[in-house]
Amino acid sequence: MKTLIIEKQDEKSLMAAGEIIKNGGIVAFPTETVYGLGANAYDEAAIKKIYKAKGRPSDNPLIVHIASAEDVGKVAREIPENAKKLIERFAPGPFTLILKKQPSIPDIVTAGLDTVGVRIPKSTTARAFIEAAGVPIAAPSANISGKPSPTKAEHAIADLDGRADAIICGENSDIGVESTIIDVTGEIPVILRPGGITKEDIVEVCGAAEVSKNVLTGVKETETPRCPGMKYKHYSPDAEITVVEGGRAQTAKKIKELVAKDRENGIKTGVLMASSNQFENDLYIFEGNSNGELAAVLFGALREFDKNGIEKAYVQMCMKDEMELAVKNRLYKSAGHKIIYVGE
Ligand code: TXA
Ligand code: MG
Repeated sequence: MKTLIIEKQDEKSLMAAGEIIKNGGIVAFPTETVYGLGANAYDEAAIKKIYKAKGRPSDNPLIVHIASAEDVGKVAREIPENAKKLIERFAPGPFTLILKKQPSIPDIVTAGLDTVGVRIPKSTTARAFIEAAGVPIAAPSANISGKPSPTKAEHAIADLDGRADAIICGENSDIGVESTIIDVTGEIPVILRPGGITKEDIVEVCGAAEVSKNVLTGVKETETPRCPGMKYKHYSPDAEITVVEGGRAQTAKKIKELVAKDRENGIKTGVLMASSNQFENDLYIFEGNSNGELAAVLFGALREFDKNGIEKAYVQMCMKDEMELAVKNRLYKSAGHKIIYVGE
């Protein structure tokens, strides 16, 4: 398949992308969390193309994207009080609400569930694209299944050139991890996947919030998680990732020792560190001073490791703040839960 690479985000280009959606095509587009691969949410044949292009298991439901809060009722049949409050405070923004679905949303979108994920992205490119399409856009992240989500146009191109009808090359995703998924169908909001809207944010607006138990532990073969995507091995680069967690100085010292040992054995090593104490390794990525900054570069860093043929990579996890949960959730998975704890 020939993929149309759309370099501009002017009205004409986005109208062309919207036209492709209307005609049953699939289009990758930027959002503030990660790039998505979208299709008309009402078009079953188009949705099938998404699953095929990504190699995605069909029991993993898609999020439906809309341009404005006014359209929530088109997708969801009930909008509970907590949903209204979260929309009022944070939409458009990096979160997805799990709501009871409208019958018009096909089963293939929700993998047969009675609920649907609804998201209003902050990215103006994303919203202009959805408006141009004139329909809700069902979209998973725009990566090949199992690979880190794309946070730059070049990542989406690397994974989907030849597999999507078009790719809109927009801005880098500044949040860098996928949206916070919040189940608001019950009394207390439950975070199924942590992200840029934090537990503290939700508590501030709704008075309470819980975090689903699978967020940091992974899901056993025999379990059915509330968020089906949680059971898949995600975000896995070819490089073997180890998380080194604890105090800033202790983790830096430990990583330095581990890298030195690997290098003695001829292993190509890379690090993603918070502290800037340089030492010899093959790829050094420095990310700054908060988990938010780490989130913004994390998926790109995992891709960089692979591009540079890194065999073993160490990620320093030493900061405590509201975005810690979102970063750990992705990191632990990419490391296959290989975590070394050192002291504070
Ligand atoms: O930030 C994001 O959410 C990005 C951008 C493109 O918007 N999208 C994204 O989609 O991350 P995806 O398909 O990679 O992840 C969607 C997750 C999956 O883990 C899926 O299981 C969960 O959302 N999900 C979708 N519908 C659900 C539902 N009705 N109930 C529970 N979980 C649901
Ligand atoms: Mg994904």
